Amino acid sequence: MVRSIIIEAPAKVNLTLDVKGKRADGYHELETLMHQINLVDRVYIEEAKSLIVQSNSTLIPEDEGNLAYRAAWAIMDKYGNQEGVRIFIEKNIPVGAGLAGGSTDAAAVLIGINRLFDLGVNPVDLMNLGAVLGSDVPFCMQGRTAMATGRGEILTPLPAGPSLNMVLVKPAFQLSTAQVYADLNCEQLTRRPDNRAFVQAWLHGDYQGIAVNMINVLESVSVVRHPEIGEIKEGLKKMGALQSIMSGSGPSVIGVFEDGQKAQEAVQKMKERYQEVYLVSSYMGE
Ligand code: C5P
Repeated sequence: MVRSIIIEAPAKVNLTLDVKGKRADGYHELETLMHQINLVDRVYIEEAKSLIVQSNSTLIPEDEGNLAYRAAWAIMDKYGNQEGVRIFIEKNIPVGAGLAGGSTDAAAVLIGINRLFDLGVNPVDLMNLGAVLGSDVPFCMQGRTAMATGRGEILTPLPAGPSLNMVLVKPAFQLSTAQVYADLNCEQLTRRPDNRAFVQAWLHGDYQGIAVNMINVLESVSVVRHPEIGEIKEGLKKMGALQSIMSGSGPSVIGVFEDGQKAQEAVQKMKERYQEVYLVSSYMGE
């Protein structure tokens, strides 16, 4: 019988994102609150004669241009003795959106192959392998909510916070993370998140405190280049969001609502103009 496994791969949003500076290795030193949401890809893995990656989406590559492909190659090369795996990615997370869609699929592949073939790779080694593939992969493997530092791979988990109703809008264009960081001028940043205050508010379930500390310094690049991101932020606030922020390097925008009814109304209004609009909340699965 062909062995197979299905792993859920949730998207992440950044509820705060601060850049402390540029490092000698070219990466940026971050302090960012990462949070998984219930917008999920499903990754199907089964044993096969060679490495095959397929998807229901035409927007992602099926070769080594796909991080999930590189993840499968990396773990089989280092720890496995199987000939290959067939991977099918059911893509529900918008692509090139600032939601770690590629990283979460790669994380699912590492976890899935380790489990499927009983490779016994310990969690630390598996996370280290993930960090080589991409800065967001370790968080996607650990999941839930965490403060991330370093280039995003050093994680301090946080307990479950208040259940947030979020409206997520992805405009019709994609952004390159590398380009957004390349265009960032750290010296000119004036408005930065207070991550300590955010964590206190998170621990106390204080919606107002969470809202005022939701700041993403990468908006200084992306909103200037693409004013539409600013328009979505303002639109969500007018529709009742306590706060609205771009996720990661963008262009997705989330609005946090205390009032679930208002969030649903905002989804309907945003759908008149945008194709990719979702009502989401914290990820509670697996
Ligand atoms: O780690 P990952 O491959 O996802 O990062 C993509 C690109 O984003 C990097 O090549 C780098 O240009 C930029 N980046 C950065 N600082 C980080 C994370 C990413 O400059 N902390």
